[in-house]
Amino acid sequence: NMRIGVLTGGGDCPGLNAVIRAVTKSLIQHGHGKGVEVLGILDGFEGLMGDTPRARPLVWDRVSGILHMGGTILGTSNSANPLKDEATLEQVRRNVRALGLDVVVAIGGDGTMSLAHGLQKIGLACVGVPKTIDNDIALCERSFGFDTAVATATDALRRVESTANSHHRVMIVETMGRHAGWLALESGIAGAADVILLPEIDYDLQAIIDRCREREQRQRYTIICIGEGAKPRGGEITVRERVAGSPDPVRLGGVGHVLRQQLQPHLKSEVRTTVLGYVQRGGDPTPFDRVLATRFGHHAAQLVIAGQLDRMVTLQDGRIGSVEIARVANTQRKVPPNHDLITMARDIGVCLGD
Ligand code: F6P
Repeated sequence: NMRIGVLTGGGDCPGLNAVIRAVTKSLIQHGHGKGVEVLGILDGFEGLMGDTPRARPLVWDRVSGILHMGGTILGTSNSANPLKDEATLEQVRRNVRALGLDVVVAIGGDGTMSLAHGLQKIGLACVGVPKTIDNDIALCERSFGFDTAVATATDALRRVESTANSHHRVMIVETMGRHAGWLALESGIAGAADVILLPEIDYDLQAIIDRCREREQRQRYTIICIGEGAKPRGGEITVRERVAGSPDPVRLGGVGHVLRQQLQPHLKSEVRTTVLGYVQRGGDPTPFDRVLATRFGHHAAQLVIAGQLDRMVTLQDGRIGSVEIARVANTQRKVPPNHDLITMARDIGVCLGD
């Protein structure tokens, strides 16, 4: 007899349901007749934190027909912290016991991995599955959700080009990505941006002005793709500045509006900003992400079955494998400034803002 919990933590991401489906189906199929049960824990770790646990059995039919759906049927939360204090930890321990959980499969980003790692303290074993549209999880070259986000951002860049072209404007498109520039870089390249600004390369305003002016002289519009974590050389963007463009001071979004204010006084063309926000995190996963998420979910089930716990599934050199969760907890994978995509972008004339 074995009972396995499945939860999704952190921001929603295309492909979460594909993972839930693959883990559940693999475990049920493997455990047929052996008393294997799968429980879906609701709203991430929050489902284990209240006076009574919140969970639903995941049976075959419950996970059928969800492969292509965005979001997560289990719900998620990115503020729940089961490690907050001793009392919370004790509550989680009681809930885990009440549910009779042997292992929890935690699908989430670096925050969720840190929590999963920390729960070893109360003897709860986890298997991690990396999820993020930011593609910034250490030791994993690609997380599911990224391909979908790149596709959406690329489409947005293409659409914005209509207005850029018709009005001879400078159009700024701000992508998500937190402190990593993967999303801005790949969508910028795919969407033919003239300028790509990443958190990893502080931008020099003058270099961007020069590029826009040079294009203005040739009667051309300019498309700028900026990652939300980007900042000008020698100066952080203050929260106050960002809030002018974004309603939520704890979020990074809004740098696109700051850049617009910085650029406009120096240019003849009108400058406009579009912040993509949650649009790039929602919707159906691409076929690539459906396959990757299914591979991840399947592998997580294999780890559970083999008793290889406290590990996170990874993709390295195109192969599915796993690493100790401890190695990825609280770390982020950023774009190295000498990454071949950056060198290539420069070589084809894209301005990286430096
Ligand atoms: O990590 C995914 C992500 O979408 C980031 O790109 C972004 O900075 C953050 O989550 C936004 O989080 P929230 O859902 O809390 O606004």
